[in-house]
Amino acid sequence: MTQLLGVALRGTGSCLPARVVPNEEFTDVLNLDTSDEWIRTRTGIRERRFAGLGETSASLGANAARNAIESAGLNPEDIDLIVCATVTPDLMCPATANLIQTALGCRPIPAFDIAAACSGFLYALSVGSQFIRTGAVRHALVIGAEVLTRIIDFTDRNSCILFGDGAGAVVLSGTQVVNTGVRKVRLYSDGARQELIQVPSRVTPVPPPGPPQVQRLEHMRISGREVFRFAVTRMVELIEQAEIDARELGLNGIEVLIPHQVNQRIIDAAIETSGFPADKVMVNLDRYGNTSAASVPIALDEALRTGRCKAGDTVLLVAFGGGLTWSSALVTL
Ligand SMILES: CC(C)(COP(=O)(O)OP(=O)(O)OC[C@H]1O[C@@H](n2cnc3c(N)ncnc32)[C@H](O)[C@@H]1OP(=O)(O)O)[C@@H](O)C(=O)NCCC(=O)NCCS
Repeated sequence: MTQLLGVALRGTGSCLPARVVPNEEFTDVLNLDTSDEWIRTRTGIRERRFAGLGETSASLGANAARNAIESAGLNPEDIDLIVCATVTPDLMCPATANLIQTALGCRPIPAFDIAAACSGFLYALSVGSQFIRTGAVRHALVIGAEVLTRIIDFTDRNSCILFGDGAGAVVLSGTQVVNTGVRKVRLYSDGARQELIQVPSRVTPVPPPGPPQVQRLEHMRISGREVFRFAVTRMVELIEQAEIDARELGLNGIEVLIPHQVNQRIIDAAIETSGFPADKVMVNLDRYGNTSAASVPIALDEALRTGRCKAGDTVLLVAFGGGLTWSSALVTL
């Protein structure tokens, strides 16, 4: 049997829209019955970024990808595969990955999207890793890109305060060194709980269940309280399982936990229950809110650029969201 390759994390990049939207905008501009104090204390979010006119998942994703390719020391023509995770594609067809491929000037290579909501980036990371591990491709570009502000209901204070736009990307490369890079990925889903987070499309057959005011087909709908409970439970399980995986892989430990940036209270509850050290957790949701599939790669890129983690460290990436889906990845940098 052919020897499987290691999957090195060779570069990272991100792109955030320039427009900063502080909590006050929801009261002062949108006239919502909320407050900066409520949003900060119940979510940890102070501000988020909104895409400007002309900015899309593809344009933000292409900029994040350019930064990742540059940090990998490669050129767009070196890329053999593009996998883009998004629930806010520019178009249903072609895929956002195709638009990014063209924007970057890549060769004719496989390029496709993955929809696994806030777990999307880790699903895409798993797919990209497996293409590399088997030797099918040498360099894979994995992207999470979202413009959630195009699908949220700005009259629903329960959800619209939570989300922001942005994109993050990584370049994965095959290596003969097997004890580095993407070490272990775990993916899960439970479609039976699909109603907790929904983004209906133009081909949704009937309005989703829910009170009349949220039956608008074009908007995201969440059951925040139920998602909160699901997220804490799954995050605790993922951390505990990853600690076992890390021991079995002979790792010295996990230097940094990079969770999906959803709500500070969810992260706090999960690390308290699991006993994971709070000072090893990377959080930037105060500045960007929840950017769904983009949240983990944006935080990973920031952690590397700011020295929160360095070459040789093992980071644990954890995400959960619509589907329902939940996922983790142990990555040695
Ligand atoms: C949405 C979320 C912030 C709400 O926080 P919470 O502590 O669970 O709050 P609750 O839903 O229990 O609501 C408490 C009260 O605050 C109110 N409230 C909700 N949003 C509010 C806002 N923006 N401003 C002021 N009050 C608000 C509710 O109406 C409720 O009022 P009531 O007690 O009079 O009914 C939290 O549940 C969450 O982050 N959930 C996960 C989010 C999610 O689904 N993300 C997407 C997938 S990853």
